[in-house]
Amino acid sequence: MAPGSFDPITLGHLDVIDRAAGLFDELHVLVVHNPDKVALLPVAKRVELIEKSIRDAGIKGDIRVTSWSVGLLVDYCTDVGASVLVKGVRSQVDVAYETPMAIINRNLAKVETIFLLPDPAHAHVSSSLVRQVASLGGDVAPYVPAAVAEYLRTPERSN
Ligand code: PNS
Repeated sequence: MAPGSFDPITLGHLDVIDRAAGLFDELHVLVVHNPDKVALLPVAKRVELIEKSIRDAGIKGDIRVTSWSVGLLVDYCTDVGASVLVKGVRSQVDVAYETPMAIINRNLAKVETIFLLPDPAHAHVSSSLVRQVASLGGDVAPYVPAAVAEYLRTPERSN
């Protein structure tokens, strides 16, 4: 299970999905709606862009893209039979942020977390910076899949 906000998916996310798909027989990419965060993209659009980005990149494997919004992530994992969470870590800052969640998820439901190192070329890329650059009219094409760049360029985004 590769969970995240994916608001929007970046090239760093796509790199981690590619690596995870090569390690597991089945991979669920889960768009988690966090009601405490103000999102740029509707959840359904995030799912659609992830699916298109995976297809366009030619990433192989049994990959399912879904979304979810209520309750504990580990309960969702138990419901779908997932026992491993995959997270990309770009730096020690990410490790420090992810470690407490990984331990709590393990304590809650014996769900382990595996940290994957993305290509260092994407180390500076985050969804929050992409949202900021896009909202101020900058070019985000170097940081996101083409489908996302195209969507963010659309002046009247309604969904
Ligand atoms: O892409 P993000 O925003 O870093 O993703 C964070 C996410 C959605 C994976 C994280 O917030 C999460 O796991 N939320 C689910 C809520 C939950 O189960 N919390 C308790 C476990 S620490």
